[in-house]
Amino acid sequence: MTDSTDLLFDPTDPATRRDPYPTYRRMRAEAPVWRSPEGVHYLSRYQDCYALFRNPALSYDTLTTRAFHDSLSPDPAVRERQLADARRSRTILELDPPEHTRMRGLLTRAFSVRTVEASEPMISGYVDQLLDGLNGPTIDLVSDFAVMLPVLVICDMLGVPVDERHQFIAIGHAVTRSVDPGVPVDDRNAANQRLRDYIATLVAIRREHPGDDLMTRLIEAADDGRLADEEELLSNTGLLLLAGFESTTNLITNAVYQLLSHPDQLAALTEEPAHIRTAIEEVLRFDPPVHMMRPRTITGDAQLGDTQFHQGDAVVPMLAAANRDPAEFEDAETFDIRRSVNRHMGFGLGHHMCLGAALARMEARLAVTRLFARFPALALATDEPAFRPHLTVRGFAELPVTF
Ligand code: HEM
Repeated sequence: MTDSTDLLFDPTDPATRRDPYPTYRRMRAEAPVWRSPEGVHYLSRYQDCYALFRNPALSYDTLTTRAFHDSLSPDPAVRERQLADARRSRTILELDPPEHTRMRGLLTRAFSVRTVEASEPMISGYVDQLLDGLNGPTIDLVSDFAVMLPVLVICDMLGVPVDERHQFIAIGHAVTRSVDPGVPVDDRNAANQRLRDYIATLVAIRREHPGDDLMTRLIEAADDGRLADEEELLSNTGLLLLAGFESTTNLITNAVYQLLSHPDQLAALTEEPAHIRTAIEEVLRFDPPVHMMRPRTITGDAQLGDTQFHQGDAVVPMLAAANRDPAEFEDAETFDIRRSVNRHMGFGLGHHMCLGAALARMEARLAVTRLFARFPALALATDEPAFRPHLTVRGFAELPVTF
């Protein structure tokens, strides 16, 4: 294991945010288990990440990590408040069995492949509506198209009133930014609190006016005791509203960017539109929206590769680094939309693997297919589009394109 004395990986470095792949390459080769100054272990090789996800001695509860406790204030009163705030905003992401199994069971049906397939007309309708509104010659694909699609779709599923839909975009960006390594615990809690207050208003409206939607079903589950309490209702409704927000936006824009940057691949897709399925999987491998996970905790002694871990160690699987590991993928640095064997980790792995994967895939397939069908001469308007200022969920701040 290589220690933090050599600062191999700095997620706050603008150059790393712009292009983290050279750093990932170095990490896989020189320090596949790298220990940060905060004592968190970053795994960059595919096999190590895979072994970690399969390891039963693993807790997803952030509150159990030493790094989390080290980040708290030394003042006991402040510390107590920080802990209570963090505990309150916990979602399914941070639950271990049996609580995780209970929560996942409640949500699975709403995001099953069958439910998502039944939603195809609704999603296509929103794609077409957004495409109809695009006016050239240059547009920003992020704000004019890719941000709005996941917002419209999840708000439709949850039953969020139309006039509320624009409001949570700013809240969403703040929460997404707050999961990056090194963000102070108070900033993270403040972002979560803002989201929670917003959701509390939406839930109150829905309680008064129930509908045929997911939020109503979650409220019913809270009211008849299938959810632990009101906090669990609020935090998980908030997660659902946000989980697919910036990540799906980034999947769509990364797909468009990679296709426009690889004209041979775009030509192959135009010739055979059925390649869209493997093309989206390749984007999830080659340039995934989620680059790394939150730290999880080793709960017993465990060996990964050459490294011995001990109880309480915090570990971060680096999905985007693992996805380009040449030990797992042939021509790992090549973007190939026809790649047939592609066990990427773009949606994570193990029992916390993304619940919204089928939905995100469907949104991305419809968005990319219809965008290129409508605008066959689409081209990048800049060689160096700007990125958002965070790395855990990585994507463009703007993607100017011409028709
Ligand atoms: C979990 C990625 C879209 C809902 C996850 C995880 C990843 C991920 C990597 C695992 C997190 C962990 O283990 O800590 C993505 C990507 C998306 C996407 C790349 C888009 C391209 C969505 C959508 C939804 C969603 C559209 C639903 C609205 C969830 C939920 C979990 C999750 C509820 C937690 C599952 C659990 O803890 O059991 N996602 N996601 N995601 N995702 Fe997604």
